[in-house]
Amino acid sequence: MTQKRILLGVTGGIAAYKSAELVRLLKKAGCAVRVVMTGGAEAFVTPLTFQALSGEAVRTSLLDPTAEAGMGHIELAKWADRILVAPASANFMARLAQGMADDLLTTVCCATEAPIVLAPAMNQAMWKNHRTQRNLALLEADPQITLLGPDQGGQACGDVGPGRMLEPQAIADRILLDSPQSLAGVRVVITAGPTREAIDPVRYISNHSSGKMGYALAAAARAAGAEVTLVSGPVALARPADVALRMVVTAEDMLAAAMKAVDEGCDIFIATAAVADYRPLDCADQKLKKSRENLSLALVRNPDTLAAVAGRADAPFTVGFAAETNDVIRHATDKLTSKHLNMIVANDVSRTGVGFNGDENAVTAVWQGGQQVFGQESKVNLSGKLVTLIAEHYRATAHSNKHPVSSKEKS
Ligand code: PMT
Repeated sequence: MTQKRILLGVTGGIAAYKSAELVRLLKKAGCAVRVVMTGGAEAFVTPLTFQALSGEAVRTSLLDPTAEAGMGHIELAKWADRILVAPASANFMARLAQGMADDLLTTVCCATEAPIVLAPAMNQAMWKNHRTQRNLALLEADPQITLLGPDQGGQACGDVGPGRMLEPQAIADRILLDSPQSLAGVRVVITAGPTREAIDPVRYISNHSSGKMGYALAAAARAAGAEVTLVSGPVALARPADVALRMVVTAEDMLAAAMKAVDEGCDIFIATAAVADYRPLDCADQKLKKSRENLSLALVRNPDTLAAVAGRADAPFTVGFAAETNDVIRHATDKLTSKHLNMIVANDVSRTGVGFNGDENAVTAVWQGGQQVFGQESKVNLSGKLVTLIAEHYRATAHSNKHPVSSKEKS
């Protein structure tokens, strides 16, 4: 794979400190990263921080006599195959929207043919301000520019609302997933993570799912142009950029949230969640005392979200995952048939380093009449490939009229 060359622009805002982590994540993923800082950014973080993390000299000045032939901005504009501005302040967005070239970063943006990605960050009132929104409309209409976020939530100034920069991991995932728009206009619902089934107010039954596979797929589907709803059990992951996130706790919550999301419109359903198959028959009102030597729990079977979605009269193109420890393909194929799925992704979770919790996975996608093996690699890279495969099969099925291509796409 050729190395991605990312030019990271950092503008003035408290979120600038998070961009240091962004550089680390992009470097870890094998990208070459160069950093351009505005004067405002330098008030929050020193260039030395970014120099140490990127391994490259940080550029701050347009009129820099030491830069190559005094034309450093042109060299930078040609070098980058993607410009990412994170955080993108209200002031920077205004200047970019107007096509200004009054500092190094705006000048490079004017001079480049590379795609420009903005991760806005500002106070919620500044974000809602009609002048910012007017600039935003100009930027959104610009085919060279993509916006990631902003997120909602508490802000450094104490306000609550839209304007927080997306978490560095969510931004890095989107930058790394440069996929063709194979799912443009398609609505995708994904389940991810574990469920928790309460035993008493402080204990629960669960499993080792981290949600990483499902979150990576959500980011990949979004990067491929899909409108994504992620139904997630309790995990410690940042919301993928531009994905609707619905948090749940139990298997019953997951069924209800997934069915609601499918009711709202779903062309492809992907179930990566490790749903607890059983839950305690009763949840004790009080914490169970440990005076007893033995404790037996009566368990009842949980509803199966995947089977329920696949069994609907208006079933979307449905993809399951199967976590197996033996006879992996046989068990996965049984689930493909018994749950009436279009595809199942078989996951050998007996292998170390793949499956639950890790950053990597190795899987075999199985469908009626075929299969494709994907060797061990990061869940982020694997997700891009799985999304491409799922999109191909979805299109083929849609063309046979079983799953009509989404009405949004047709219009
Ligand atoms: O979250 P990570 O740490 O990244 O780990 C990823 C993973 C290992 C969890 C993932 O790759 C995976 O294999 N997910 C499926 C786990 C699983 O529970 O498999 P299963 O064979 O028990 O279930 C088969 C399918 O039915 C799955 O798509 C599951 O989401 C679905 N199911 C199962 C039970 C149930 N009650 N409801 C369901 O929807």
